[in-house]
Amino acid sequence: MTDHAVLSYKGRNYDLPIVVGTEDEHAADISSLRGASGLITLDRGYGNTGSCESEITYIDGDKGILRYRGYPIEQLAERSTFTETAYLLIFGELPTGAQYTEFRRLLNEHQHIHENMLDFFHGFPEGSPPMAILSAMINALGCFQPELTKPDDDDHFMEAAARLISKVRTIAAAAYRTSAGRPVNYPRQDMRYTSNFLHMLMSMPFDLYEPDPDIVEALDRILILHADHEQNCSTSTVRMVASSQANLHASVAAGVCALWGPLHGGANQAVIEMLQRLHDSGQTLESFVNQIKNKEAGVRLMGFGHRVYRNFDPRAKLIKESCDRVLAKLGIHDPLLDLATQLEEVALEDDYFVSRKLYPNVDFYSGIILRAIGIPQDMFTVMFAMGRLPGWIAQWREVHVQPPKIDRPRQVYIGANARDFVPVEERG
Ligand code: ACO
Repeated sequence: MTDHAVLSYKGRNYDLPIVVGTEDEHAADISSLRGASGLITLDRGYGNTGSCESEITYIDGDKGILRYRGYPIEQLAERSTFTETAYLLIFGELPTGAQYTEFRRLLNEHQHIHENMLDFFHGFPEGSPPMAILSAMINALGCFQPELTKPDDDDHFMEAAARLISKVRTIAAAAYRTSAGRPVNYPRQDMRYTSNFLHMLMSMPFDLYEPDPDIVEALDRILILHADHEQNCSTSTVRMVASSQANLHASVAAGVCALWGPLHGGANQAVIEMLQRLHDSGQTLESFVNQIKNKEAGVRLMGFGHRVYRNFDPRAKLIKESCDRVLAKLGIHDPLLDLATQLEEVALEDDYFVSRKLYPNVDFYSGIILRAIGIPQDMFTVMFAMGRLPGWIAQWREVHVQPPKIDRPRQVYIGANARDFVPVEERG
């Protein structure tokens, strides 16, 4: 007999089968509990709820482990590229030489967006947040592309995935260019994925940007480190929208919106804003840390803490390495990096953070490196979205190759009990 847990309620026992993952994670399956006992489970924020079984990404938050399809993030960051990692996430295996060549060919072939889409970009007022433009344009892209009908057909899906990954990069760059009132740059056929993005973001008609290979490598690494992170807020959003059988564009556009918030992907921008405020105000670290510890309204140490990692976020370590390398290479001395380093040191010694297991997360140093590379601050979260896209695509596909089952959580209602309608003239 398979292992099971027993839940006792009002004198009766209910057997809950135990589901065991490939890394020996154990979960009590409560899917028949309501039918048998009338009970639902309540878990605000889903900290203790598995929403699915997934083969894509494994995290051990206590040990600080992150693997995509079994491969440690450290090895991928060191030895892979973003596009190869994207293929791995979506198709489950590292590509053969021929598969990778074909995937790259498709990425190159589909990098242009329809000319009519440029009209949409020009409709946004100058200064519009690029995340708003990105989400709207991904949805709009769906109108220009045939509907995906065969998510379980590798060849068909390879083209669909390459198309979206390639075009989202072009859209991301164009979102910034239009919001900054600059001309939109066309992609170049002679450039690889990441350098092409930098060209589209930075080049001016009179001054072509030639990306430095070390910068390209650092940015590629950032994208790899963001490429998936199992059932986080934006990915769960993508999966939930996908569960209604919504198309890939609609699901991913919803993921972009979820990512935008400062408690999620928006944290990379919020970290820099926090450091800049601290720097400009001349406030001491001690007084700032005291504000955080006293939980003064709206004051949190952005870039610290994580729902799953109760140890160092492995991505933070790798990004810090890249950050030191890029700043040294560019000969940049960034006072915000000094402040970040000092804040990290203080926090890692302070009982408030130690007792709550709050460590730097991926966003703590990513803003500093993006700023050094010259990425505009309001594009930081867009960079996160570009990185996360292969993960969202892989998760969307995982939902769509399974028999349809719409995600629909329950609730415990705590509102008014039944009452009779009173006409307005009798309400006093
Ligand atoms: N600064 C100060 N205190 C914090 C922080 C922080 N960054 N994070 C958590 N805490 C405190 C909480 O106040 C709470 O204290 P309490 O026990 O006295 O009430 C305790 O630590 C637990 O915090 P929760 O908010 O319950 O933790 P949760 O797992 O829900 O939140 C989150 C995780 C949202 C990431 C949180 O740590 C946070 O807000 N961090 C700052 C924003 C950030 O960096 N987000 C990026 C996350 S990584 C990503 O999305 C890619």
